[in-house]
Amino acid sequence: MSASREVQPVEPENCRLIEELENGSEDIDILPSGLAFISSGLKYPGLPNFAPDEPGKIFLMDLNEQNPRAQALEISGGFDKELFNPHGISIFIDKDHTVYLYVVNHPHMKSTVEIFKFEEQQLSLVYLKTIKHELLKSVNDIVVLGPEQFYATRDHYFTNTFLSLFEMILDLRWTYVLFYSPREVKVVAKGFCSANGITVSADQKYVYVADVAAKNIHIMEKHDNWDLTQLKVIQLGTLVDNLTVDPATGDILAGCHPNPMKLLIYNPEDPPGSEVLRIQNVLSETPRVSTVYANNGSVLQGTSVASVYHGKILIGTVFHKTLYCEL
Ligand SMILES: *[C@@H]1O[C@H](CO)[C@@H](O)[C@H](O)[C@H]1NC(C)=O
Ligand SMILES: *[C@@H]1O[C@H](CO)[C@@H](O)[C@H](O)[C@H]1NC(C)=O
Repeated sequence: MSASREVQPVEPENCRLIEELENGSEDIDILPSGLAFISSGLKYPGLPNFAPDEPGKIFLMDLNEQNPRAQALEISGGFDKELFNPHGISIFIDKDHTVYLYVVNHPHMKSTVEIFKFEEQQLSLVYLKTIKHELLKSVNDIVVLGPEQFYATRDHYFTNTFLSLFEMILDLRWTYVLFYSPREVKVVAKGFCSANGITVSADQKYVYVADVAAKNIHIMEKHDNWDLTQLKVIQLGTLVDNLTVDPATGDILAGCHPNPMKLLIYNPEDPPGSEVLRIQNVLSETPRVSTVYANNGSVLQGTSVASVYHGKILIGTVFHKTLYCEL
């Protein structure tokens, strides 16, 4: 965690900050139609938060608009909004084209997965159910592949903050990827320092897992019984948070933390920077890694995710602002 690099600035064209999103945009998932869901307001031990008394929210942006704005979605259906602490999100579209949003939630710092149905006309989320399971602990991110069928990452083993710091220092590699379905729950991959972002390739044959503390991405092959086997590991030399796939090219986009210590010990005078990497030819012998965005924190601090849609990129952060640029 002591590793810290100075970042050389890289900026795509016509970047602008999204006014409504100033307290984090930890995770972003975009529908094929261009509607982006954004989770905001994560409260997590050890990480800064600019609005500690406000519950988290899910925002929506229509990326087809010329100057899209973000709007908080109403939540109905008897959900406890005061305790909403959203982390990773994942969209699932069923065969009737109904859109569901699965959200990792940390009420009272526990981990649950909430399922909402998206009502586009009302711009609202209807709460359907909460999934809890003894193996769903310290959940960071999920990727949903079927009705109530998803992979989830566990980012630390100990639930106690103090012990989880030791876990990092001692490099225990006790975190894992879990498969959840109503009929079967199992650990499908283990040995990660801190399994963080998870996503799936466009053909749904491969699952990509970011190991934030080990600074790499694991490329896993998905089997019919949902087990995962590791094909390879791509070292990135920077702390990798969340992953998305560019629907047009299949490239992985990774939100990264170039100077993690500055993220943990927050000083507004010397803020953490931001970095977004693109990994092309993921399955080839020689994947190509390039920098799409880099900033020393003067514009954007603590990037967690970047998602692309029709030549535009939306860059989210753990607790800071949100940037929208042309690629
Ligand atoms: C990371 O991104 C994926 C794909 O957009 C999303 O499903 C996931 O919830 C994100 N996770 C976090 C922790 O930001
Ligand atoms: C960050 O970079 C900008 C110019 O790109 C510079 O003006 C500023 O002093 C730098 N900030 C830090 C904290 O290094």
